[in-house]
Amino acid sequence: MPSHRGEFSSKAGFILAASGSAVGLGNIWGFPTNAAENGGGAFVLMYFVLAFCLAYPALMAELIIGRHTKANMVHALQIISPDRTSKSIGKLTGYYGILVASLILSFYSIVAGWMLAYLVDPLATLGGFNGLSDWLTSNSMARNLLFTGLFLVLTCSVIAAGVEHGIEKWSCRLMPALLVMFAGLILYVLIQPGAIAGLKVYLIPDFSQLNDPKLIVSALGQAFFSLSLGVGTMLIYGSYLRPEENLPAVGAIVTLVDSSIAFLAGLLVLPALFVAQQYGLTIYTESGNLIAGPDLIFQTLPALFAGMGMVGTLVALVFFALMSIAALTSSISMLEVPVSYTIENHATHRRAATWLTGAAIFVVSSAIIVNFEALFGLVVTLTTEYSQPLLGLLLCVFATWVWHRDMILEEIRSGHPEVEYSLFWKIWPSYAKYCCPLLILLVLAQSLTS
Ligand code: PHE
Repeated sequence: MPSHRGEFSSKAGFILAASGSAVGLGNIWGFPTNAAENGGGAFVLMYFVLAFCLAYPALMAELIIGRHTKANMVHALQIISPDRTSKSIGKLTGYYGILVASLILSFYSIVAGWMLAYLVDPLATLGGFNGLSDWLTSNSMARNLLFTGLFLVLTCSVIAAGVEHGIEKWSCRLMPALLVMFAGLILYVLIQPGAIAGLKVYLIPDFSQLNDPKLIVSALGQAFFSLSLGVGTMLIYGSYLRPEENLPAVGAIVTLVDSSIAFLAGLLVLPALFVAQQYGLTIYTESGNLIAGPDLIFQTLPALFAGMGMVGTLVALVFFALMSIAALTSSISMLEVPVSYTIENHATHRRAATWLTGAAIFVVSSAIIVNFEALFGLVVTLTTEYSQPLLGLLLCVFATWVWHRDMILEEIRSGHPEVEYSLFWKIWPSYAKYCCPLLILLVLAQSLTS
């Protein structure tokens, strides 16, 4: 017997859960380093434009389809398709989304596992367990397997408890905690010597980079990844949303929260990097670029925290707790995609569906860990750079070309009776129909040819 479909009990519950999905490692790590690599303020500007002009309309397509069909992505796209051909394409697109969501979770949980290990490290240091501390911060296969598994167990525990008692309850607990830690850390870092130099790199735009195709491709990829688009996470969260909620408004709030947190993360990470320089650490690579990848999070920042003495241990604890929480509220939304499909299409109980799917994902993560050099980068590129924008495009096409405009209007009307006369309705339908697919296609073509 399949379990009952869940529902978010309040608007705040949905907003915190959807923002929790959106705010993740992509915001706190990906955004600031992408900005530093691509012209600072110019990237920030381009990101905001793309987030509201391309990602928000695509988010709306997912939320509307989800709430109307009250189903997982495979089923949902078939429900809105009028004929056999489009139903088959819808089904395939749904499977593609589930596959990509699961693959994203399999690499995401490896990175989140690193965050957990670095979260335990300050505690080991405080307890005087130096051997343990060295093991936690060394990149061994055993550590990676253990902490990836641990992180997946945490993710499964939340999802097994269901929508209201798992996703909503934990998002409502963790997101406020995340915001408080975030604000505290930013304030602390900004008063350290050297922080202002980092702020300048972050905020002063180098407009000459605005016509660099790499900047646009990176900003679009970042916006789609950050808003968790294309893979059915927002579709399934939308399917748990009550009919009386105003869709364009909640979608706009989630977009705003997500991009604001990304922006704020820049106020933390880049100044911290320049504070590290004051502590004598190298912050530029040999080719003259700012350190950005794993070295930034797992070498430069920990070295900075270590140099700060006792306070640094506390700062490290808060920083990695922040990263782990951000990762967890995102990973639960990724796992919900295959789990909801298994529950609804295979008449399975939520608990069984969750732990089985979690185990399957752990197998894939382990394969990536064992063949790290060959697989990690490949899976990241294939899923986030190509598949997510492509799926976002397909979802826009389904919402606006395949589905009926009147049905969309009716769906939005249930929570926003005057939508017909709103600015949203004047712009969104034709915008999502023509502009979004075309622009996404252009950017995709650009990234394929460059
Ligand atoms: N939005 C999350 C982040 O910024 C990542 C994510 C991608 C979550 C796809 C769900 C689905 O880290």
